[in-house]
Amino acid sequence: MRISVIGCGYLGAVHAASMAQLGHEVVGVDVDEAKIASLAGGRAPFYEPGLPELLAEVGATGRLTFTTDMSAVTGAAVHFVCVGTPQTNGEFRADLRYVDAALTGLREHLRPGDVVAGKSTVPVGTAERLAPDLAAAGATLVWNPEFLREGFAVQDTLHPDRLVYGLPTDADGEPTARGREARAVLDQVYATPLAEGVPLVVTDYATAQLVKVAANSFLATKISFINAMAELCEATGADVTRLADAIGYDERIGRRFLNAGLGFGGGCLPKDIRAFMARAGELGVSDALTFLQEVDSVNMRRRVRLVDLAREVCDGSIVGKRVAVLGAAFKPESDDVRDSPALSVAAQMQLQGAHVTVTDPQAIDNARAKWPDLRFAPTALEAAQGADVVLLATEWSQYRDLDPEELGAVVAHRRMLDGRNVLVPAQWRAAGWTYRALGRP
Ligand code: UDX
Repeated sequence: MRISVIGCGYLGAVHAASMAQLGHEVVGVDVDEAKIASLAGGRAPFYEPGLPELLAEVGATGRLTFTTDMSAVTGAAVHFVCVGTPQTNGEFRADLRYVDAALTGLREHLRPGDVVAGKSTVPVGTAERLAPDLAAAGATLVWNPEFLREGFAVQDTLHPDRLVYGLPTDADGEPTARGREARAVLDQVYATPLAEGVPLVVTDYATAQLVKVAANSFLATKISFINAMAELCEATGADVTRLADAIGYDERIGRRFLNAGLGFGGGCLPKDIRAFMARAGELGVSDALTFLQEVDSVNMRRRVRLVDLAREVCDGSIVGKRVAVLGAAFKPESDDVRDSPALSVAAQMQLQGAHVTVTDPQAIDNARAKWPDLRFAPTALEAAQGADVVLLATEWSQYRDLDPEELGAVVAHRRMLDGRNVLVPAQWRAAGWTYRALGRP
């Protein structure tokens, strides 16, 4: 099939390449010329494992092209909208300007019978607002949320946990004739994963839009739950990692997403739960989501707690102390520093008078662009030279595998704060380190 993908960021670039891999002929469109030049040259404009290989593989087939010219979408049967929906400056709600701009640009190139598939995470009600104008152009809007995780984006796109189609429905809640036609088109797009048995949920617009924010709210709640338990553990001398193991054996609870530490960040969870709260307020049901305010607060408190812990181990003050922060990305296997807990802690400590050096295997350029006042070093050993305290803030495997003796040889004081609970405390203590962590004795 001929497919267009509007917006070529973390979501769109991977989606475009994956659709080409499935055998479709894909054009990716973005307003960012540098990004398009990079993708057109077969280079991933950000770090995502597997994407360079995928771009090379499908690039050789000639089925994948990139352009800044929106008219190139003409003739595609499906147009995927993958633009960002960041948090509005100074407010909780989502900023829909890129969605609206994409739809305005797309509209004049649509042909009757085209399907427009929204993938961006939007406030519930957005599809209902956009659909009539597209219908007037003879096109059908479907909402087809994306659940990919950065770091696993290629795998998640090619082999998703589930597919969700939000179709236009009639008064009885059944898909309209156009909705059924659009569904058949999407079934063709996703023929390969569907044949592999990927579950498909077909529903209405509102449910499809809610699925995404509900899923992200649940994940955020799970993380904040275990981080709230970490606060209890700190008050009682208990160990949150053992607690998580023990409750995680209950299949109803499950161990995944129960890793206590610095909490969640990134371009999705924080802004999605906030936009969801804002939307609930507009809908007159803000009480339903007041708990997300608590989820957000627990999450932000972890960052403050790690800075306090640093002060504690540095004899009451971090002013003038040398601090090494291992990790800048919001999670391993990503170069994304949007709302990164690691970078937030590094910046807070710098603002409070510490001399902070940050390292990261992939995210230094992005981190420097955001916080040019911080110092950066290419490796953990270089960042830790003369350090009074070392903070492990993003659990890259190279930091998990650090040797306490090797690192100990370069620091001024053997003090390790494990912000992700990934080190073996006994190993570090045996090497003479003061080891502290969030939620561990
Ligand atoms: C998330 C959702 O997982 C994905 O389905 C959605 O499409 C987009 O948002 P992503 O932002 O890539 O994906 O990251 P994710 O792996 O969910 O991690 C989010 C944050 O939570 C990271 O900062 C991570 O470090 C943190 N986290 C995750 C924890 O603190 N503890 C955990 O147990 C798991």
